[in-house]
Amino acid sequence: MTTPAAVITDAAAYAQAVEDAVTASAAYYTGGTSALDDDAYDRLVRGIAAWETEHPDQVLPNSPTGKVAGGAVEGDVPHTVAMLSLDNVFSPEEFTTWSASLARRIGHEVERFSVEPKLDGLAVAARYAGGRLRQLITRGDGTAGEHVSHAIGTIEGLPHELAEPVTVEVRGEVLMTTAQFEHANEVRTAHGGQPFANPRGAAAGSLRAKERAYTVPMTFFGYGLLPLPNTEKALAPRLGELAHSDLMVQAAAYGVNTTATTAVPGITADTVEQVLARVQEIAALRAELPFGIDGIVIKADLAADQQSAGSGSRAPRWAIAYKLPAVEKITRLLEVEWNVGRTGIIAPRAVLEPVEIDGATITYATLHNPADITRRDLRLGDHVMVHRAGDVIPRIEAPVAHLRTGDEQPIAFPEACPRCGAGINTGEQRWRCENGRNCHLVAALSYAAGRDQLDIEGLGHTRVVQLVDAGLVADLADLFTLTREQLMGLERMGVTSTDNLLAAIAAAKGQPLSRVLCALGVRGTGRSMSRRIARRFASMDNIRAANAESMQQVEGIGTEKAPSIVAELAELAPLIDKLAAAGVNMTEPGATPPASSDGDTGEADENTEGVGGPLAGMTVVVTGAMTGPLEKLSRNQMNELIERAGGRSSSSVSKKTSLVVAGDGAGSKRAKAEDLAIRLATPDEFAALVADYLN
Ligand code: IVH
Repeated sequence: MTTPAAVITDAAAYAQAVEDAVTASAAYYTGGTSALDDDAYDRLVRGIAAWETEHPDQVLPNSPTGKVAGGAVEGDVPHTVAMLSLDNVFSPEEFTTWSASLARRIGHEVERFSVEPKLDGLAVAARYAGGRLRQLITRGDGTAGEHVSHAIGTIEGLPHELAEPVTVEVRGEVLMTTAQFEHANEVRTAHGGQPFANPRGAAAGSLRAKERAYTVPMTFFGYGLLPLPNTEKALAPRLGELAHSDLMVQAAAYGVNTTATTAVPGITADTVEQVLARVQEIAALRAELPFGIDGIVIKADLAADQQSAGSGSRAPRWAIAYKLPAVEKITRLLEVEWNVGRTGIIAPRAVLEPVEIDGATITYATLHNPADITRRDLRLGDHVMVHRAGDVIPRIEAPVAHLRTGDEQPIAFPEACPRCGAGINTGEQRWRCENGRNCHLVAALSYAAGRDQLDIEGLGHTRVVQLVDAGLVADLADLFTLTREQLMGLERMGVTSTDNLLAAIAAAKGQPLSRVLCALGVRGTGRSMSRRIARRFASMDNIRAANAESMQQVEGIGTEKAPSIVAELAELAPLIDKLAAAGVNMTEPGATPPASSDGDTGEADENTEGVGGPLAGMTVVVTGAMTGPLEKLSRNQMNELIERAGGRSSSSVSKKTSLVVAGDGAGSKRAKAEDLAIRLATPDEFAALVADYLN
């Protein structure tokens, strides 16, 4: 899992490496953007350490090895107890070895571990006197830190006043959530500043910034709580004997934010196996978290175990960081492509110099929309920080502005649709071809024919291209009036494939309204939203009669989406009429039409959760592979089934989940359901529960 160390061959290369590491580290702690991503920095420091082992007499005093934070700004506020760093492990084997050595050191197995995310921000100590927040100090070199009390009031989760008038120090991490980071860069660039490359740099820079014309919110997560010396007995709580997990409960009771509020709360574990299982769970949830983590911190939970293990000068012996692979790398932006989607949206996509992130080679990243490019001040040739976690589409966080050479070129925005040459509607953030969904008809039709929409077998991409090129279809409705002769005239269309395709098209006319609506590809209405709209309004006529206000009665449709859906349906009116005339079904089986004529019953969500049924009022999550009677169902069909049976389908497990259907190979969702004591069902049990609704 670890990448190889940098190879250093002589004293001059060693001196250069130390200098590069110190510069990068200084940028890391002050919010400047480093020329090295975390991986490159780690490789460099490991190379430095390797050379130092061979040449112990030539170690430079400013070397980052053996320090709590080589390169960090030294502060002048002494820490009462040193703020240490953590040693790292990178694999289950390394963790197992570490825990065995800890057990040897303390003379028995570790009684209990605590396992929590390693938050990717900066360490601060917050001193409270009599319950009031008095001082905020960075970690600095571990012995003394910088005073950053000016940032008090901009950090969520660190209250001005605790729930009790205690005199304590809370330690933890200050970071920016993804939303806070986006906001910070918007505000910063609006004030003429360069965008920060990533949330960590943004938090570091914002925490230390004293004289900014603006403030940007950050978030604090506590991971330590200690008494302050020289405190009157009455104000000093007895914390010394508490286990780490109890300290975290106490911190939360004081009103301090901890990981308990997140999808990855700190837990305790009795065995190495349990720790490793939790490491996997946290790793699996990483991509979905609204803040960055770079690993998992495992601690001996009991104060007695911690005390007998003790600490070295750099790191405690009772805690370890299990590092996860880096999700950010610096690479170069080579080009921007403009692609037209099936609804006519013209979306920019970054072409990158290939870079490997967590085992995958990344060559493209999303750029959202033109305004986003302008806001980030991106230029061709820029070094950019690329973020990729899990299966989420990689994104560019920001350019590394100080690596610019002056040769970077502005990104040209298209003046006409790059696909059909028509004009571009630039009225909204996302630009759209004036030909709308007719611009990329092949994409629109392929989507409509897809398995989760009209499910027309035999109408794949190639066939659609043939039909469009032959001029046989100019919109979705034309599919339904295709004749046998027309199809037979196409290349590679024999009697059997023609008859099969005609039968599949005829069958598609009977699909429920939810799928017809989805096939239209109205922006903002994917599969589940189309089902909710169809269930609420029951017929296409009712949907078309709905105004923005009644559209908002559908769960998940807010003030922004509602008018755009209504407008787009109006735009689609001729096509919908043509589909209805061709005999396409326009009603939703099982849904009750609303009472009033404008499609609004006045009661929120009456129809969105079905009418009774065995799953009435339940939120159901499906995970793993389905077997038995459910084996052939796609995830979308499972969701349709859940909703037919009166339930609500969801893709993530939370306290609100009522039931998790866990099939073969179910992983983190099953584990989370077990943690939250949510009812679990096998595919067979679930099939029995909804037997009446299986068709
Ligand atoms: S415990 C003495 N717990 O990681 C124990 N640290 O690489 C040291 N960090 O300096 C801290 N999340 O800034 C601890 N849950 C967590 C953490 C955490 C992030 C940071 C902290 C520390 C650094 C070490």
